[in-house]
Amino acid sequence: MLNFSRSRPQRPNRPNSLGGMDFVDPVKKSGLARKIIFATGLVALCIIIIKASPTFSSPSPFSLHETGTTHVLVTGGAGYIGSHAALRLLKDSYRVTIVDNLSRGNLGAIKVLQDLFPEHGRLQFIYADLGDPKAVNKIFSENAFDAVMHFAAVAYVGESTLDPLKYYHNITSNTLVVLEAMAAHNVNTLIYSSTCATYGEPEKMPITEETPQVPLDITQLTRMEKPRRWQKILSWIFHKNSDMAVMILRYFNVIGSDPDGRLGEAPRPELREHGRISAACFDAARGITKGLKVRGTDYKTVDGTCIRDYIDVTDLVDAHVKALRKAQPGEVGIYNVGTGQGRSVREFVEACKKATGVSMDVEYLPRRPGDYAEVYSNTSKILRELNWSAKYTDLENSLRVAWKWQKLHHNGYGVA
Ligand SMILES: NC(=O)c1ccc[n+]([C@@H]2O[C@H](COP(=O)([O-])OP(=O)(O)OC[C@H]3O[C@@H](n4cnc5c(N)ncnc54)[C@H](O)[C@@H]3O)[C@@H](O)[C@H]2O)c1
Ligand SMILES: *[C@@H]1O[C@H](CO)[C@@H](O)[C@H](O)[C@H]1NC(C)=O
Ligand SMILES: *[C@@H]1O[C@H](CO)[C@@H](O)[C@H](O)[C@H]1NC(C)=O
Ligand SMILES: *[C@@H]1O[C@H](CO)[C@@H](O)[C@H](O)[C@H]1NC(C)=O
Ligand SMILES: *[C@@H]1O[C@H](CO)[C@@H](O)[C@H](O)[C@H]1NC(C)=O
Repeated sequence: MLNFSRSRPQRPNRPNSLGGMDFVDPVKKSGLARKIIFATGLVALCIIIIKASPTFSSPSPFSLHETGTTHVLVTGGAGYIGSHAALRLLKDSYRVTIVDNLSRGNLGAIKVLQDLFPEHGRLQFIYADLGDPKAVNKIFSENAFDAVMHFAAVAYVGESTLDPLKYYHNITSNTLVVLEAMAAHNVNTLIYSSTCATYGEPEKMPITEETPQVPLDITQLTRMEKPRRWQKILSWIFHKNSDMAVMILRYFNVIGSDPDGRLGEAPRPELREHGRISAACFDAARGITKGLKVRGTDYKTVDGTCIRDYIDVTDLVDAHVKALRKAQPGEVGIYNVGTGQGRSVREFVEACKKATGVSMDVEYLPRRPGDYAEVYSNTSKILRELNWSAKYTDLENSLRVAWKWQKLHHNGYGVA
């Protein structure tokens, strides 16, 4: 585990350090002087070593609970949604620790956040794998977290279909490690990223939190980024542990990026083929891929293409902060996070063309197996209970903001 903790605490000078110097007359005894210089050097070296050893450091602000400051562990904070969430938390004066193994995320995003919030005790980054219980336990024992926002996951539906079992294993084992560490260290508030994919293709639209979830079998699993079984387990564990406050947020299709252009979405190039629709739009606009492929034009929808609910990442992270504030000990809250408006893929393509100013070729192909005709959210519960509703609902504008970042960052966060 590497610790990129931004600023090491400044320690006060040790009062006894080098104190012996005062009693020495270097003119009288030059041989002694040399010895003393040597000894002094030795003492200084020891002090440097002692300073470097964590046991002797004064406590880091991250290791202490502080009244009035909420310290949030953001797992996956180097990733797309996690980095935006960390930015929002920091802006709202939360103390933030990001844990990420950079398998998918970007150190560049961490750099941006550190440059924006260099003050002592605001943000630290810890490079670690959440699949490693020892490393995670060490992190929890050295830091005083008040809450966890759990974003770390391998999160591409396309990819999950290639090796569903491995996917299931990685997601569930990481989450279990985090949950166990939380329980062991008395961290009682969890905000958990879930997805509308757990609803499958419901009979009634829009989707409410009561919409039945698809039964769990291995084929259904392939369509789920976070299996329903986990939500069941969460509710078993935490309903019984009366102190836990859990908020499960089911995202619809996430798009957009920081309106001030500091962060963006930068998936690994090798994941491009599994990418999401907005990434496909930008790749086409840049000419990295040849045009846009629309799969399925014969659905029973307004224009034959699939209907989806596109939620801007700025709204999404706002929902996380509201969920964190409203989290109640002993309760599991489940909320859809969407705009409540369905948009067809054709509409999306038009918005993409306008936002990027590129009139790309669009190729219409047969349906992709497993895609549902219509998926959009009923937002009444989250409005009622968290007073949250989407504000960035202009699809073209969300894409324009994201495109601006993409144009300026041809290689993501890497050097141009
Ligand atoms: N993007 C979407 O449209 C969408 C939709 C629904 C749900 N979600 C959920 O939101 C969460 C975040 O998604 P994202 O789009 O930001 O993904 P992302 O891939 O950009 O970010 C995930 C981050 O987690 C890190 N990570 C993964 N495994 C890790 C491990 N074992 N240890 C430490 N760090 C690890 C990655 O390095 C990456 O930085 C995921 O849980 C995903 O399932 C995303
Ligand atoms: C990071 O996490 C991913 C997903 O859980 C895992 O597959 C990968 O092996 C991990 N990598 C490192 C370097 O820890
Ligand atoms: C899952 O984890 C294993 C081992 O930790 C790793 O080798 C594999 O690449 C991971 N799979 C994905 C899809 O991240
Ligand atoms: C959304 O769900 C609520 C119940 O929670 C219901 O009263 C309302 O009619 C639904 N809205 C739509 C548009 O279906
Ligand atoms: C709900 O949110 C709106 C802004 O979106 C705010 O004006 C209003 O005061 C909030 N209501 C409550 C009860 O907090």
